[in-house]
Amino acid sequence: MNAETILLVEDSEVLRQGLKSLLEQEDYLVLTGGNGKEALEKMHAKTPDLILADILMPEMDGYELFEAVRSKPEWISIPFIFLTARRERKHILAGKRLGAEDYLLKPISPDDLLTAIRSRLGRSQQLLLAQLQESYEASLIMLANAIEVRDPYTRGHVERVMNYAQTIAEYLGWTAIEINNLRFGSILHDIGKINIAANVLNKQGPLNDEEWAEMRKHPEMGAELVKGIHYLEPALPVILYHHERWNGKGYPFGLKEEKIPISSRIVAIADSFDAMTTRRPYREELKPGEAFNEILSNRGVQYDPLIVDAFRHAWETEKIIEIFKAFP
Ligand SMILES: [Fe+2]
Ligand SMILES: [Fe+2]
Repeated sequence: MNAETILLVEDSEVLRQGLKSLLEQEDYLVLTGGNGKEALEKMHAKTPDLILADILMPEMDGYELFEAVRSKPEWISIPFIFLTARRERKHILAGKRLGAEDYLLKPISPDDLLTAIRSRLGRSQQLLLAQLQESYEASLIMLANAIEVRDPYTRGHVERVMNYAQTIAEYLGWTAIEINNLRFGSILHDIGKINIAANVLNKQGPLNDEEWAEMRKHPEMGAELVKGIHYLEPALPVILYHHERWNGKGYPFGLKEEKIPISSRIVAIADSFDAMTTRRPYREELKPGEAFNEILSNRGVQYDPLIVDAFRHAWETEKIIEIFKAFP
């Protein structure tokens, strides 16, 4: 079922009624106007998901309507399709620099019309989703930065880990959706640190046993925080298992090899590389090349050998250094 609203603007009463019933049969909600002015009045009452407009109309023509719609920021992304007679076509292309997808020639078959409408609506939804995704990611980064404010020595940590992890996944041939989930996981991997006492988090020296025990709770605390938030669930494995080690000597569960989710094995490398190349009050940072060698020497010990290989490829093509320099 389509719940989308289409604004149909056409001065010919016959054509308007015909198109309206065609669209209604497809379960679209249809608003109509006999010219641009009437169309704008309708739009103030309800914002359509798509506008289908004739060009030559009395009072306010299709072009003027198009300009009026595009001049309002909240209407700028509404797909706009011109319905035009053949003789007008050259005129439109020359005058408006519109793409071919922005106009349909009259007469048009119902099938062609519906296909064009569906494809435009589909694309504008993808765009909306992408925008939504972007704003989610921005708010997550903000949240993660809130932890960094408490833990000043990890400034930029989240962004770097996210980018290192993504680069490794690209070398492993991951899909866009998998990479997206990995980005979420990377952003949130240390979210549990929000519950770690400030005196432990900000201690100006190595942690004692008791403090380490506290620090080591952050994966489970983080998992607890995002559990039940459907949208964040893809991040769970990374949050919970990013301190597990290939040889089973990590925490919190001591999982071994493939028992550790692959996204966590990737973030483990990204996270360690970043930790080693960041200065702490009680120790000097390593040079990127030294940290890289450290990761290689732990291939098959602390880290998954195949992921170390992907990391090495990323290093050899200078991708890792680029990220290191981009987020100081
Ligand atoms: Fe961590
Ligand atoms: Fe971390």
